[in-house]
Amino acid sequence: MSEMVSVAILAAGLGTRMRSRRAKVLHEAGGRTLVEHVVAAALELAAPESVAVVVGHQAGRVREVLESTGVRFAMQAEQKGTGHALLCCRETLEPAGGRVIVAYGDCPLLRAGTLRALAARHKELSAACTVITTEMEDPTGYGRILRNAEGGIVGIVEQKAATPEQLAVREINSGIYCFEAALLWPLLAGLRPNPATGEIFLTDLVEILAARGHLVAAYPVEDQTELLGINTRVELAVADRVMRESTVRAHMLAGVTIERPETVTIDAGVAIGQDTVIEAFAQLRGRTVVGEECRVGAASILSNATLEDRAVVEPFSMVADSRLAEGAKVGPYGRLRMQAVVEPGAVVGNFVELKKTVLGAGSKAQHLAYLGDALVGEGVNIGAGTITCNYDGFEKHKTAVAAGAFVGSNTTLVAPVTVGEGSYVAAGSVITDGVPGDTLALGRARQVSKPGWPSRRRAARQAESKS
Ligand code: UD1
Ligand code: MG
Repeated sequence: MSEMVSVAILAAGLGTRMRSRRAKVLHEAGGRTLVEHVVAAALELAAPESVAVVVGHQAGRVREVLESTGVRFAMQAEQKGTGHALLCCRETLEPAGGRVIVAYGDCPLLRAGTLRALAARHKELSAACTVITTEMEDPTGYGRILRNAEGGIVGIVEQKAATPEQLAVREINSGIYCFEAALLWPLLAGLRPNPATGEIFLTDLVEILAARGHLVAAYPVEDQTELLGINTRVELAVADRVMRESTVRAHMLAGVTIERPETVTIDAGVAIGQDTVIEAFAQLRGRTVVGEECRVGAASILSNATLEDRAVVEPFSMVADSRLAEGAKVGPYGRLRMQAVVEPGAVVGNFVELKKTVLGAGSKAQHLAYLGDALVGEGVNIGAGTITCNYDGFEKHKTAVAAGAFVGSNTTLVAPVTVGEGSYVAAGSVITDGVPGDTLALGRARQVSKPGWPSRRRAARQAESKS
């Protein structure tokens, strides 16, 4: 007998109760779509070519999110029930033989360890089918496990078709099974549609196997959290919370300090180095990578951000698709976006925004500045209120500020423009022409002072009001 295990993941349904235009399995919990979680668990026990995902609703988008995993797809154009959905995988999975595990794409908390234990129990008992079951306080909505006087499983009855006696059964069908492939595929092809709904119920197979004298076994689990199938956005939020809790916990156990962990959001794909401190209400999303001994300040949001070792994000900052090199700092209230790079030891202060800009090593933009499409060299000081005018209404233009330059406060750099090495730009300048190296540039009207003007004016006003 082949020891091969393949996995079929049923994910063709729309999920009406989500009240969404988006297919249910594409909704996210813990920072990943529901179906990605299930596929990740499946891939821990089967090779990608032995995992088949049944797609239907928004098949194209479901394929897209799973493309990189290398799993196979089976199309179910019309949703004719769970039995029909599994049958759609026949061509893909039958040649492998062995055993087939069936799981749902809307069951994101399912762990690989549980699937492994299911397969192990199935093998140990030499069963034809082993189904994960659990006892529920309130089994409403689920298929009930029917057993004979000896305790053997003889069938599964759906809520709608159950008699009052059957409804009282608290052992439910999780919908996760392990089947002997050699028995599964031929019998599945012979299933008839349910007379009441017209759907082909996978659960009918249990009765058929039992009636033919094959062993249908149960793998009962105590922890029902894992079996949570998402049907509504309320359940989606529950799954999200469970995943967040376990992700945060795993990071803490791996050496990350997390303050008020119940308030912190960390996506599944995020990596965090040892002795980093994450403050309350921080969010680390997407493919964010944080090095060692970093600090992520309260209520900061990092998405696809890279923080090298000892980088600091002060509270209330946003870092998206950008990088802070070793020891670099941003915030409080800083914003980095679209491939901004803050080189080692550079500082981006409060109310400073960097877009597609490199701020060179040791450079500083401490207050109230916008640097867009700019290349700033090392050891540059960008004064408060400095603005790059990178957009002329049609196109974006580049600004370059060479190493060691000093850009005075409230400077307007009208791109394309360059400031040369070691140069000074006087405060309040509007710079429209390139500044060569080692040059002082003043781009503002010369100040005029008129002594006595205020008192003359006041006197004139007084005379006017008397007349
Ligand atoms: C099913 C089981 C029920 C079990 C419950 C556990 C049957 C007949 N009933 O009921 O015993 O207690 O799961 O959650 O199997 N799907 C397809 N194509 C289809 C139909 C469904 O891909 O044609 C997918 C859905 O996208 C979903 C999964 O299969 O991910 C389950 O379908 P659903 O309609 O939710 O089955 P239940 O009524 O919950
Ligand atoms: Mg369901």
